[in-house]
Amino acid sequence: MGDPSTEYLSLVDSLTEHDRRYYVDANPTISDVEYDRLMRQLRELEQAHPDWVVAWSPTKRVGHVPVSDFPKVTRPVAMLSLDNTYGQEDLREFHDRVIKGLDGDHVTYSIEPKIDGFGIELTYRQGLLALAATRGDGRIGEDVTANVRTVHGVALRLREPADIVVRGEIYMTKAEFAAINAERASAGEELFKNPRNTAAGTIKQMDPREVAKRPMRTILYEVVDGERYARGHLESLDYIKKLGLPVSPHNASAGDWDALIACVQAWESKRDALPYEVDGLVIKVDDFGQRAALGTTSKFPRWAIAYKFPARQVTTVLRDLELNIGRTGVVTPVAILDPVDVSGTTVSRASVHNWDQVARLGLGKGDRVLIEKAGEIIPQILGVTEKGPGPAFAPPTECPFCKAALVREEGRVALVCPNRIGCPAQMLGAIEFFASRHQMNIDGLGEKVVVQLVESGLVKDVADLFDLTSLQLRGLERFGELSANNLVAAIAAAKQAATFSKLLSSLGITNVGSVLARPIAQRYGRLSALRAASEAKHSDELVAELCEIEGIGETIARAVDRFLREPHVIAVLDKLKQRGIDPAEPVSAVAEGPLTGKTLVVTGTLTAPRTDIQKRIEAAGGKVAGSVSKKTTYLVAGADTGKAKLEAAQKHGVTVIDEVELEKLLGG
Ligand code: IVH
Repeated sequence: MGDPSTEYLSLVDSLTEHDRRYYVDANPTISDVEYDRLMRQLRELEQAHPDWVVAWSPTKRVGHVPVSDFPKVTRPVAMLSLDNTYGQEDLREFHDRVIKGLDGDHVTYSIEPKIDGFGIELTYRQGLLALAATRGDGRIGEDVTANVRTVHGVALRLREPADIVVRGEIYMTKAEFAAINAERASAGEELFKNPRNTAAGTIKQMDPREVAKRPMRTILYEVVDGERYARGHLESLDYIKKLGLPVSPHNASAGDWDALIACVQAWESKRDALPYEVDGLVIKVDDFGQRAALGTTSKFPRWAIAYKFPARQVTTVLRDLELNIGRTGVVTPVAILDPVDVSGTTVSRASVHNWDQVARLGLGKGDRVLIEKAGEIIPQILGVTEKGPGPAFAPPTECPFCKAALVREEGRVALVCPNRIGCPAQMLGAIEFFASRHQMNIDGLGEKVVVQLVESGLVKDVADLFDLTSLQLRGLERFGELSANNLVAAIAAAKQAATFSKLLSSLGITNVGSVLARPIAQRYGRLSALRAASEAKHSDELVAELCEIEGIGETIARAVDRFLREPHVIAVLDKLKQRGIDPAEPVSAVAEGPLTGKTLVVTGTLTAPRTDIQKRIEAAGGKVAGSVSKKTTYLVAGADTGKAKLEAAQKHGVTVIDEVELEKLLGG
């Protein structure tokens, strides 16, 4: 019957331990490749034997059912918060109160970094994660178990079948936060304010797949009813560490006031070196008996206190706003400041995110502004403290690099230079994208070579690629006769193999990827025909015509129209035409198969590239569309499917399936 095989269970155990070594101990013992191999093996076993799958399997971190509400959880032991202290004197008062409360007894403190994240309580029953609850008002929290399961370091199963409740912080590293914001900036989305808000907002997301997309970690710092497991607090943390839960490696203990102060002072220089935000220290009486004797007030324990690090906000004068342009054409303002010292570093520039924020803050030349520098994160302007004499800054109207008229895409706050393939500031990104594997697929034309080609002046736009000769390439560093010939041959081969839809998607028009390029290409047949339509018609006419194509809505139609009318783009498209690049779109014979007559929309992150999955669906007779409508049969939802798609599916009564179910439909 369906008894999980010993092989399967030991594979689950071994992957769980590897996760722990990676995320809890930061000390992996196998390579990523080896880990991926084991994970694949596990997936295959689970697909072949769905009845074996256990709840603590590492594949079960990502749930896929969005919830509409978080059930309330009432806890027997309230989650209190901490009173704050801001300096040595404050801290001394706390120490004196503790000593007095203990009638002069000797006391040992634990000193822990106060991680700036989101408080959480994990309940394990028989060693299995049974509940993860937010703090809420302390007594009543919310059940966010499905979301917390996606957080690395949260053990789904402990090393022993223990019944235990632990508390800690869920946080996002500074690097992950910066990466998310960089991605949002390039997508023209509003940026998150800081790692704490991002982590907190993420845990309260209704959709666990959105949560899984934002990598978070956890560190645990309290064991509820710790006296059941140990005499003192640090010993109880050692115990949960043995159970396989992450505790901070920076926790220390101090046996008297001098040791406490020395430890606190040492932290001043240590805090920036940590990969996550630390806004202070938490100092706790270690002994559980002494904690009980001290008791709590209505809000705070008397045996613990937060020691807050000095704030890192200062004011300075805003001299100017400079324009910065990213590889995808998003134009952002950067504040130029009078240099000022913020906790040891000189700051002379700050990010302002986008032009909405410039307006919201009412920034003008010469204003005195409050800035904040937190860890490695770029300093930010928090507000104006004193108006200067200068006028308010207005958003630019043209790209500072190519003079194209900037556009603001619907529903987005960012200003974008639409000259995707002619703007020098976007050149590297555009060429790299054009050549990449799922676009024109020019073998051997990766980032490094693109940089070389652009820096040497040989290539100024994607059309120039088709003029390259072996002789020219041989003049570049690291190019020999063979590699030069190979690249020229690869470019020729890509030209030969290109279809109109491939060419169209590789031009990088906003939102026009391989799925949407296909129906557009089928409608017009060739790029020259699409361009002729744009020359013969007004914008509104062309937009209306494009909107008739299945899956194309007004936003995308407008982006295509704008692209085709941008003078710099026209120049590059003319150059492509002169080089004979105007491939036809093959009329696709509809395959017969299990998906004949069905329309699927594929979204989110899947285990194979989207284009591969699309090909397989088409080979099985199915049609792939770009957006969910009442004509859609299935929405295939990957790991990070957006809310909008799910809501559209619900509205149109479309069945949502995951990748495993798709495999079944494909007969695999
Ligand atoms: S102990 C009664 N330890 O800071 C004990 N809290 O301002 C309360 N925090 O709600 C918690 N690091 O979310 C404790 N090492 C640490 C902490 C910590 C961060 C957070 C926690 C708490 C808040 C109190």
